[in-house]
Amino acid sequence: MCGIIARIGHDDATETLLSGLENLEYRGYDSAGIAVQNGSGVKVRKCSGEVDDLKSSLEHQLHGNIGIGHTRWSTHGPPTDENAHPHTDTAGDVAVVHNGVIDNYDELRAELCERGHEFDSDTDTEVIPHLIDEYRATADDTEHAVRQAVETLEGSYAIAAIVDGEERVYAARNGSPLVLGLDDEEWFLASDVPAFLDYTDEVIYLEDGDLVVLEPDSYRITDADGTPVDRPVDTVDWDPEDAGKGEYDHYMLKEIHTQPTALSNTIEGRVEDGAVAFDALPSGTFTDVETVQFVACGTSYHAAMYGAQLLRSAGVRTEVVRASEYETMAGPVDDDTLVVAVTQSGETADTLQAVRTATERGARSLAVTNVVGSTAAREADDAIYIRAGPEVGVAATKTFSSQAVTLALLTQRIAADVPTATPLADSETMLESLADLPEHVETVIETTDAEALAREFHNSDSYFFIGNGLGHSVALEGALKFKEITYEHAEGFAAGELKHGPLALVTPETPVFAVATGDDGKTKTNAIEAQARGAPIVAVCPDDHPLADAADTHLSIPETHPVWAGLLANVQLQLVSYHAADLLDRPIDKPRNLAKSVTVE
Ligand code: G6P
Repeated sequence: MCGIIARIGHDDATETLLSGLENLEYRGYDSAGIAVQNGSGVKVRKCSGEVDDLKSSLEHQLHGNIGIGHTRWSTHGPPTDENAHPHTDTAGDVAVVHNGVIDNYDELRAELCERGHEFDSDTDTEVIPHLIDEYRATADDTEHAVRQAVETLEGSYAIAAIVDGEERVYAARNGSPLVLGLDDEEWFLASDVPAFLDYTDEVIYLEDGDLVVLEPDSYRITDADGTPVDRPVDTVDWDPEDAGKGEYDHYMLKEIHTQPTALSNTIEGRVEDGAVAFDALPSGTFTDVETVQFVACGTSYHAAMYGAQLLRSAGVRTEVVRASEYETMAGPVDDDTLVVAVTQSGETADTLQAVRTATERGARSLAVTNVVGSTAAREADDAIYIRAGPEVGVAATKTFSSQAVTLALLTQRIAADVPTATPLADSETMLESLADLPEHVETVIETTDAEALAREFHNSDSYFFIGNGLGHSVALEGALKFKEITYEHAEGFAAGELKHGPLALVTPETPVFAVATGDDGKTKTNAIEAQARGAPIVAVCPDDHPLADAADTHLSIPETHPVWAGLLANVQLQLVSYHAADLLDRPIDKPRNLAKSVTVE
């Protein structure tokens, strides 16, 4: 939700800022802007639209060795040129980019206006440069002025600021992600690593309360008390190529196609001698656990459903709660409760808030995330990583598959510890067949009929997705993917629920995708009920499943253990969504109104 970048070095920063912003566009693409400092004042260029629009508007390239940049997902005010970041103070001496929400901006703005400050935008952010400017008049130096300014703010922020005449970038974080990138000749700050991964893989994950001052040859971090701190330097193991589009037309297609590799990484070293092993979760970690609550949003919620069902079938009391509803919908919590936060980015505000609430209520926490150093990973008691590599397309694909597999393994790990649990009867077969999953995904990708199917159906009125058991979460995920990127109406249901309402909507113009994984009794019956009302049925199942013959069309998945079959069905549905969106000429990687990382509640 908004991406920020800052760069300081000896040579020109503009190209680096622009390419960094392109890699952050998954966080929002309502507007883009940069400001550079080049010895003759702070120069700002910004506009509504995407980074490409900003590039075209840069008739006269800006030059400067120090700069900041922003790509926006609007919260306060529409996506206009005026509301685009960077924002400046009245004189234009201080420029700021911001990710987060300033809760007390209304009162700050009123006070600043009374003291003569002039505002140009509707944003909450604009108070920040004005505050820095005002404090500069009395503070010892700009660093102190920035500290005073951030102490005045209530809310969440990652900010970066440049100031006329100063060879410095100032930055601070509280509740929004900010990573420092260290290269030999230059320093970066950004909301996420892909912004500077082309230049360096050495990073420092900043903490809430940190204030950073970058100079061309040095950097300095102080904590919330103003005490200098040394934060550990990590090396990111993502390849810059992982963050690019490569030979593919869209990131989404690339990310679908790289699932075999992502899954191999997810699995590597985690199944040994027929048992599951996570380095961070040694045997005995979960002995005291009596209840597990999964919390998540969006696609991660569907992966959490998948994991929750497996854990439930191992006899562990399990809930899965939409993170945004946690406050009121979660069951009772005590110190025998484990809350598992499933979040690709590790930064989703609703999910973080649910974990904080659960922690206050006495639960212990575990983050299942893709991003090392993310807020979820740092705030939870323990963290495990899904190792899917960077995902840029807003519609999550490979991270769903890697989450579901990680959670399936986690449920085995938990069940092995919890005294009252009964690990799945055929868990050994399930774990053995996991080794073939990457190859099976490859087969689906190579043999799929999804494009032809999308061509046949992409002008339908509505699209329904049904499944039961593990197929239910896949049906919900299939529908979410479809609506996100095609803008067509799509809904997912537990197969048996179709007859309790949605069947009223079924016509010959509403294809029903029925997911069958091999452990489902009802899906075929429910699919046939829809077929009897004229709906074309697309079976997504192995060839020998009875649904395949009964359906009008069939998307085939390889024979495998029922626990993994749903993930293969999901790959077929990802491809159907992708091709339908492509035929409809949608902006697949950047669907309207959405962002990949939603850091506001
Ligand atoms: C947004 C994205 C979804 C994602 C959800 C949760 O809504 O558009 O694709 O599933 O956030 O994100 P997380 O990073 O917590 O998995």
